[in-house]
Amino acid sequence: MAGATYTRIYLHERPVADITPTTFKSEQLPLSSLVPGENEVLVKVHWLSLDPAMRGWLNDKRSYVPPVKIGETMRAGGLATVIKAGPGSELKEGDVVSTRPGMRCWTEYAVVKTKDCEKLVYPKGANMLDFLGALGMPGLTAYFGLLHVGAVKAGDVLVVSGAAGAVGSLVCQIGKKKGAKVYAIAGGKEKCKWLEEEVGVEKAFDYKDPKWKEEFKKVGYLDVYFDNVGGETLDFMLTRLKVGARIPLCGAISDYNNPHPKGLSGYMNLISQRAKIEGFIVFDYAKEYPAAISEMASWLADGTLKRKFHIVEGLDNAPKALPMLFTGGNTGKLVVKVSDPVNKDAAKL
Ligand SMILES: NC(=O)c1ccc[n+]([C@@H]2O[C@H](COP(=O)([O-])OP(=O)(O)OC[C@H]3O[C@@H](n4cnc5c(N)ncnc54)[C@H](OP(=O)(O)O)[C@@H]3O)[C@@H](O)[C@H]2O)c1
Repeated sequence: MAGATYTRIYLHERPVADITPTTFKSEQLPLSSLVPGENEVLVKVHWLSLDPAMRGWLNDKRSYVPPVKIGETMRAGGLATVIKAGPGSELKEGDVVSTRPGMRCWTEYAVVKTKDCEKLVYPKGANMLDFLGALGMPGLTAYFGLLHVGAVKAGDVLVVSGAAGAVGSLVCQIGKKKGAKVYAIAGGKEKCKWLEEEVGVEKAFDYKDPKWKEEFKKVGYLDVYFDNVGGETLDFMLTRLKVGARIPLCGAISDYNNPHPKGLSGYMNLISQRAKIEGFIVFDYAKEYPAAISEMASWLADGTLKRKFHIVEGLDNAPKALPMLFTGGNTGKLVVKVSDPVNKDAAKL
């Protein structure tokens, strides 16, 4: 491998609003510069997760994680194979791992701390990509947001925004499994058709149709609103609450690129309806992940939980793919394929 190089993509300038062609830059570096130290491993990256939260990591603001620094390789969760283990590492060459979202994974190769990697243990019927979908952050977010924060129960009217996305499409399916009547909100006829015909929601509403709110009122009032988008849709849902309704505030993608988000005018309905709105971060449930993964895996194994991935080929396309999350270009979980797994059997494709 003498003279071999690898590509990494780093934050070049912070976007003020939308991500632009100059937000990220890429460079080639000698592979020989990547040497794992004590309790570190050199990994070859195969898959990257693209997540709306990444937009927030580009802002120089206080949040639940520090911002990505200018010049730093862009952060992302990923799936990778260990190429070389440093001294003291519990991982060994050939292990297939997931890297925590905090790792700098917009790169073909990386040196990461062993403690920031988790060796994949495949439940029956699971494959590698499931660790970025139902068994990864989107699945766990859907699971804990709906069942713990939303406390959904059989017979509830559940409304889900961002419903054709990674988290939303799983929330719809978990809600159905728990006996809720599920209504979806998504952008465009195609997504609504997919939600009704394949995901199996009662009805899907296209929020880009100017008449959708009038149509939605026919549903009546709701018990749980799982909010992925914030903004105007959240404000409208505040007017549709039953007494004791719950709103798990998962995300607010409609405002992530907006430097001056507007406030909510409908918040007083929370008082009259004795309703609850609660923000949450999936990482706070880390201790409970194994039980959730086991239940989600059983649904994957019996074929009752549908997977949907939107795959973009090539690390170089990651900067163009990330903004798709903000224009609705993806259905299901958006991922980037960086390279083929080193060992196809170990990766269980
Ligand atoms: N709290 C947590 O711990 C946690 C963890 C993971 C994710 N999240 C949040 O969960 C939400 C969904 O994440 P995801 O990974 O599943 O992404 P995703 O839903 O797969 O992709 C984002 C989707 O958002 C929709 N969207 C974009 N701009 C919009 C707008 N202005 N108004 C309404 N919808 C818009 C688009 O679908 P349409 O075509 O339907 O517009 C797009 O496909 C995000 O807000 C994310 O930040 C939170």
